[in-house]
Amino acid sequence: MNVITVENLSFRYRRAKEYSLRDVSFEVRRGELLGIIGPSGSGKSTLCLTLNGIIPHSIRGDFSGEVIVRDPGTGEEYNTIETPVAKLSTVVGLVLQNPESQLFSMTVEEEIAFGLENLGLDRNEIMRRLRWVLEVSGLKGLEKEFPPNLSGGQKQRLAIAAVLAMKPSVLVLDEPTSQLDPLGRNEVLGLVLLLRKEHGITVVLVEHHTDYILRFADRIIVMDKGSIVLEGKPREIAEEAETLRRLGINLPPSLEISYELKKRGLISRLALTEEELLSGIRSL
Ligand SMILES: Nc1ncnc2c1ncn2[C@@H]1O[C@H](COP(=O)(O)OP(=O)(O)OP(=O)(O)O)[C@@H](O)[C@H]1O
Ligand SMILES: [Mg+2]
Repeated sequence: MNVITVENLSFRYRRAKEYSLRDVSFEVRRGELLGIIGPSGSGKSTLCLTLNGIIPHSIRGDFSGEVIVRDPGTGEEYNTIETPVAKLSTVVGLVLQNPESQLFSMTVEEEIAFGLENLGLDRNEIMRRLRWVLEVSGLKGLEKEFPPNLSGGQKQRLAIAAVLAMKPSVLVLDEPTSQLDPLGRNEVLGLVLLLRKEHGITVVLVEHHTDYILRFADRIIVMDKGSIVLEGKPREIAEEAETLRRLGINLPPSLEISYELKKRGLISRLALTEEELLSGIRSL
């Protein structure tokens, strides 16, 4: 079942000369982790903004085609152009590229409760959700902290927690680790995997760390100049290493090395991870 269906979507920001999205069509399937990669300026963030209606409701421009969001709980379908962002946000949660821009409260718990109060939920339900997201996001004990004082990884987990509290079926994360050190990066990506495995949340993840996407995504979309240029399973995308390189996408060393070894007929299978590379080399 598709939770999001995008059909022939094109978008040009107001006053921009060029289209930032050009005839984009794809679907997000329930329960999957869909990875999106592509060079800077290829339209990844713009695409994310269309998935919960911020484009075209809050950011305007020339919009054509459609984005249909389906609530897997009720089976109801919403065309984003006809549905307010507040409604769409309860199905599709979007964590923006820069988490600082999303945090504005005095404490961690206020930050999380803010969106819930706006939903008009009663006090008990707010408390229940607050406890749940503090627990899953690993922020328990930090309820009274001032968000700017948190570490990078904690800030990003808070941004995710605040969105998660709305109980969306789909979580869209736009480069959640781009400003983090390796430790913070592991914290955040670990949370994403947990949400997917243990809470059944569908994930759309824009990530320039291609190694993670190749290892954990079910499917990958590659964007360039506002269009989808490749779509497939990680192994299918890895086979296109030369195209990825040409687009300026960083490839993980295990893929680079195995690609060269395979080209020379030394191994038969590309390695998506270091473990696969090692076992390939050991069998030489
Ligand atoms: N608010 C805006 N107004 C006009 N043009 C914009 C706006 N935001 C983005 N663009 C343009 O749209 C295109 C796609 O930008 P977008 O931010 O979606 O790319 P991206 O793939 O997310 O890049 P990055 O990897 O750097 O985050 C770029 O050419 C960019 O300059
Ligand atoms: Mg971006």
